Amino acid sequence: MKVDIDMGSQSGGKAATLDLEELLATRLLVQGNSGSGKSHLLRRLLEQSAPWVQQCVIDPEGDFVTLADRYGHVVVDAERSEAELTRIAARIRQHRVSVVLNLEGLDVEQQMRCAAAFLGGLFDADRDHWYPVLVVVDEAQLFAPAVAGEVSDEARKLSLGAMTNLMCRGRKRGLAGVIATQRLAKLAKNVAAEASNFLMGRTFLDIDMARAADLLGMDRRQSEMFRDLARGHFVALGPALSRRPLPVTIGTVETSARSTSPKLTPLPEAPAPADARDLIFTPAADEVRAMPVRRPPPPVSTADILTQLAQARPKAEEPAEPLLPVIAEADHAARIDEVLREILVDPDAAFRTVAVLYQDFLVRCRIRRVPGEPLTLADFRRRFAVARAGVDMTREGEEGWPQAVTLSAGLPDDLQGVFLVIARAALTGAPCPSDATIARVYGSHSPSRARRLIAYFEERGLFVVRTDFRGRRIVASPDLGCETAPGDPAGPVDVSQDLPSAAE
Ligand SMILES: Nc1ncnc2c1ncn2[C@@H]1O[C@H](COP(=O)(O)OP(=O)(O)O)[C@@H](O)[C@H]1O
Ligand SMILES: [Mg+2]
Repeated sequence: MKVDIDMGSQSGGKAATLDLEELLATRLLVQGNSGSGKSHLLRRLLEQSAPWVQQCVIDPEGDFVTLADRYGHVVVDAERSEAELTRIAARIRQHRVSVVLNLEGLDVEQQMRCAAAFLGGLFDADRDHWYPVLVVVDEAQLFAPAVAGEVSDEARKLSLGAMTNLMCRGRKRGLAGVIATQRLAKLAKNVAAEASNFLMGRTFLDIDMARAADLLGMDRRQSEMFRDLARGHFVALGPALSRRPLPVTIGTVETSARSTSPKLTPLPEAPAPADARDLIFTPAADEVRAMPVRRPPPPVSTADILTQLAQARPKAEEPAEPLLPVIAEADHAARIDEVLREILVDPDAAFRTVAVLYQDFLVRCRIRRVPGEPLTLADFRRRFAVARAGVDMTREGEEGWPQAVTLSAGLPDDLQGVFLVIARAALTGAPCPSDATIARVYGSHSPSRARRLIAYFEERGLFVVRTDFRGRRIVASPDLGCETAPGDPAGPVDVSQDLPSAAE
């Protein structure tokens, strides 16, 4: 049966279609920066295909629960044991009920574990129940990260394994993976590589563009086109979409929260939601309620052991309860700063990953007997970005600075330092740093890279950029309510912003 799903339009107004049956066999990868319209695209695909195929959505942000009212999806909230999620997934396959697994509100590690348990249940379904089902995973880099992050090795392995099964081995079992990611470079390569269909949206960073070009078999110069795509515009390629790269505009959706004039569509022929609930939440009489299989403890990596060692300090070393907690806290912060600075002046620091530097940090704290809790990896990453941006830690008390740090926390790690350098100039009314200075902070020599970084912040509404009549740049921050003095974009590198690692 050939079913063409209407995704939107091509240039010239012709419909952009997606061959559903072909999609089941060849899977889909969607990539585009945050705000490029990926979730909207997935919603369009889900809505248009709802009458034709069973759907399971892995939804980290609770975006898709609105499909329930109109299309009858059952929302599975994830606050259940992993074993229970696995059993629910098996019943979902048996009864062919469309669902949204809502992972909103769980921490990343929990999200990974729940998704793994649920996908595992879909994958291990009884052979009799291998009916076709679209498995849509939004923000797939969360579940199949390219590199180890802050979660435990065990959670990462479980989740990555489940995603690999979905994309590499799911086809025979009727599972058709549709995954979306903000950053191709953050998605595990083997998971991305199994999709034969692509929808590429606006892409900002060179590394993602290069990966996209590789996947699409385009040359890197051609892939520059991804930079200029507007929201909702994607380039389609693959057996279910188009034989050559085809620009498409995604059409409207029925269920987005913002939709003000919903249009009626025929309801899918599915069991009434109440029946559907019963079907998947009630164990069948013959279902074995076996105890979950106990897995052997996962192997512990050397890095984990080092972390544990660094954190486990013998009781005897614990300093007595301070009489003046405020002073003790300040002392703690000052000593942590000292350790951070020590790491920063190491000329090799710029070439190591944050995870490695963090290990180094923990060990140094331990050697210096820094009292109190060491920083978490997330805090370390942020403090390190701040320190690396050449920002004096004592400014932390200054007005506006904590807010700047909070704003930076929402950005990709590699951009936080750049953001903070510009924000600091704005807070202190200093001239806007030159392109060369910004590039240097980012760890690049390219002034055009600096301009793209500023454009990126501007797109996200973090900065508003203007040029004065002498061609000097002024960057304003609406959030912080301040702006830089005019600065020459073509000016020299400001050495006070220099990274220690650059002091060859
Ligand atoms: N094709 C489109 N037509 C109309 N609005 C769109 C379209 N694509 C995205 N949007 C809107 O743009 C905003 C961001 O889109 P979203 O899908 O959430 O982006 P992403 O998931 O890539 O971060 C949302 O408010 C969405 O409604
Ligand atoms: Mg989204």
